[in-house]
Amino acid sequence: MSATVQPILDVRDLAVRFALPRPRLFAPRPHLEAVRGVSFALAPGRTLGLVGESGSGKTTTAMAAIRLTRAAGGRVLFDGTDLLTLPPEAMRRARRHLQIVFQDPYSSLNPRERVGAIVREPLDLMAVGAASRERDERVRELFRLVGLRDDQMALFPHQFSGGQRQRVSIARALATHPRLVVCDEPVSALDVAIQAQILNLLRRLQDELGLSYLFISHDLGVVQFLCDDIAVMYLGRIVEHAGRAALFRTPRHPYTAALLAAAPSLARRKSAGYRRDAVVRGDPPSPVAIPPGCAFAARCPRAAAPCRDTAPELRPVGDSQVACHFPL
Ligand SMILES: Nc1ncnc2c1ncn2[C@@H]1O[C@H](COP(=O)(O)OP(=O)(O)O)[C@@H](O)[C@H]1O
Ligand SMILES: [Mg+2]
Repeated sequence: MSATVQPILDVRDLAVRFALPRPRLFAPRPHLEAVRGVSFALAPGRTLGLVGESGSGKTTTAMAAIRLTRAAGGRVLFDGTDLLTLPPEAMRRARRHLQIVFQDPYSSLNPRERVGAIVREPLDLMAVGAASRERDERVRELFRLVGLRDDQMALFPHQFSGGQRQRVSIARALATHPRLVVCDEPVSALDVAIQAQILNLLRRLQDELGLSYLFISHDLGVVQFLCDDIAVMYLGRIVEHAGRAALFRTPRHPYTAALLAAAPSLARRKSAGYRRDAVVRGDPPSPVAIPPGCAFAARCPRAAAPCRDTAPELRPVGDSQVACHFPL
């Protein structure tokens, strides 16, 4: 990223914690630390991938960044303005620039509404386009943009295939001309052949509309296709942050190396150098009782004494930022 370009999204030291139910009456309320001091910047027109195991905090990070989940701390500069301290009315106006596409379009689309009305809804909610006719025209334009036909507007979600439903979700997300789109596992529920179509669509839309994507996926093949930069999350923290080429060529964090070695879609590359023995077993620690030191230490083939006492900070190693005492 060039130093002169102001990031569209600049997240600093973001923290999210969830209060859990008391185990017993009068017992203290346990807290789950879902996101712990996450920082990253996304340049306009670019894609940042968030990867990591299920439960590592990817969705929570993205939801807090667009203020759909409450942050416990940190700053989220969108175009230089901190979203976390915006008054409600200003936040409402900012909403049209921040949209999200979810994994499962079937549960995020109202089954009783025609898809034309579903795509139109954000325009009505945010009063985009003065006249009703203008909004109708915008909906038709959106259908064409995502590769659907005008006559499909009158159909219901169940009358579409999974890939077409995701096109409807994308059309709805783009209705208000957003500048930042969070894509949370947008192709994970689709067949591989359909995945490629949707990924190509997202890429084309980015080029045509200058969109910036915060792109969540547990599939490194998908991330490699679409993302310019990649942040690897582990137990609520970024443990490695690098450009695509650097991350896939020379993973520095043992956890990143393990993810690459275990990725089925990168199987061919395993023989080309990813170490099979890097695959880790076992589960991450509980986010309710995070151990001191590096959260990956108990599973790490390289762990030594300092790893169990001192949490490593992100620091530059080669072309990457890595939070590890003994990077590869
Ligand atoms: N609403 C919630 N209440 C309590 N815990 C939550 C809530 N949402 C997420 N979590 C927890 O926060 C952690 C991060 O979850 P999430 O961001 O969904 O991870 P990912 O998207 O990487 O799978 C997990 O331990 C999850 O169980
Ligand atoms: Mg998630």
